[in-house]
Amino acid sequence: MPQPSVPRVTLTDGGPMLVEGPVELELPDGERVRSERPVVAVCTCRRSKRFPFCDTSHRKKVRQARNDDESASQDRTR
Ligand code: FES
Repeated sequence: MPQPSVPRVTLTDGGPMLVEGPVELELPDGERVRSERPVVAVCTCRRSKRFPFCDTSHRKKVRQARNDDESASQDRTR
């Protein structure tokens, strides 16, 4: 008797959760969204404009704090 396949979920460091598809996701408000892709990247950072799917917004750099800019300019003048 064949064993049922077990879906694989891969957690990435600072990025999406990769889920073997097709998959149906249920959101906190009860809405259900479906993806037919073989691997579905589920956003874990909440920055995606396509939430609950990752749009790579997690990769975008955040501007450094002002103090970092000031110390960098001071380094250039030394
Ligand atoms: S994990 Fe990629 S946009 Fe959120």
